[in-house]
Amino acid sequence: MSFATLWESLLPIGRDGLSGGYRRFSWTPEDAACRAWFTRAAAERDLRVLTDNNGNLWAWWDPPGWPGPGAPGGSKAVVTGSHLDSVPDGGAFDGPLGVVSAFAAVDLLRERGFLPVRPLGIAAFSEEEGGRFGVACLGSRLLAGAIEPGRARALADTAGVTLAEAMAAAGHDPDGIGPDDGLLAAVGAYVELHIEQGRALADLGAAIAIGEQIWPHGRWRLDFTGRPDHAGTATLADRHDPMLPFAAAVLAARKAAAAHGARATVGKVTAEPGAVNAVSARVSAWLDARGPDERTLQTVVGEVLAAAREAAAGHGVQLAAGPESVTPAVVFDQDLRERLASSLAEQGIPAPLLPTGAGHDAGVLAARVPTAMLFVRNPTGVSHSPAEHAEPADCAAGVRALATVLEDLACR
Ligand code: GLV
Ligand code: MN
Ligand code: MN
Repeated sequence: MSFATLWESLLPIGRDGLSGGYRRFSWTPEDAACRAWFTRAAAERDLRVLTDNNGNLWAWWDPPGWPGPGAPGGSKAVVTGSHLDSVPDGGAFDGPLGVVSAFAAVDLLRERGFLPVRPLGIAAFSEEEGGRFGVACLGSRLLAGAIEPGRARALADTAGVTLAEAMAAAGHDPDGIGPDDGLLAAVGAYVELHIEQGRALADLGAAIAIGEQIWPHGRWRLDFTGRPDHAGTATLADRHDPMLPFAAAVLAARKAAAAHGARATVGKVTAEPGAVNAVSARVSAWLDARGPDERTLQTVVGEVLAAAREAAAGHGVQLAAGPESVTPAVVFDQDLRERLASSLAEQGIPAPLLPTGAGHDAGVLAARVPTAMLFVRNPTGVSHSPAEHAEPADCAAGVRALATVLEDLACR
């Protein structure tokens, strides 16, 4: 089956008719439809599908005569894939490009007559974006033991539904979530193909890159609690308005990021109770901060929180602030990276090395398994937006590059 057929079969799921963006949040009906799509794509290829304890999907192409999962002495698997969930109104490519390309690469290997000599897996990790429960890469974090299962079960969405409740409602047992050392021990390498979330490849004139490192990054929640009051009668001097220190924090984020060569964004904010004609009772904001190294990241976050505290004190507002998820700097496995580079070079596929400020399951898994990434050119660099795009010819180049790498890692 061609990449285009597979791609188009996924495209309608979870697309918002008005914005054209995707709303594929974990453990919702749209998520169930994505899971059914994955299971169908695997079944069409005679791949063995399983859902792990954490709700991540796996499709296995077992080598002929392979004794089965957990058999002693079996060689370690090579896994590729990405995620199918989205940010609110996200683009079509972030995540799905890696999963669709994985199935298409299996098709291409078969067309070329290759068989794996070690298990070849395709994974789709759950809640990579943290779009519903707030913690990025939740499925891979749970798998790798990078978040405590009790804390994960208690994470709640904006309607107050916990992860445990959402999983149970979707038919998945939340009591079983947590690290799966056996599964990870069976994986020898993870290679994630992803759309580039910047414009570097367009500027370099190349279709494919190899990931070099991921900037350290994280999310911090800031709750400003003031005193609700009347917009017309409360004098300015009498107010305890949480919106003002919130605004100061947003400006401080921009200033600190610019001063330190970092990124800081406030993309989500809620004001309660949300009356036009009242001073808010509470403003909650989420700071996403990223930097080229840990020290810079800490400096940026420190400056933003200090400015928020100072402004809160000046307005008689309470501030509670803390991290929701933090991912340290990741440098992808050098041996694996070099192996990708030489197999691509052998096929005449140019692939420069690129660092990224975007987070990925590959970054979380890198703590436990040798991981690598391939990026596919995004002509405008826009991502986490309906405008995210990759040209069909570049998607095809991505599939060829991934097949080349998988042939080397899994078929020889
Ligand atoms: C994931 O795309 C992230 O970097 O937030
Ligand atoms: Mn993303
Ligand atoms: Mn992604």
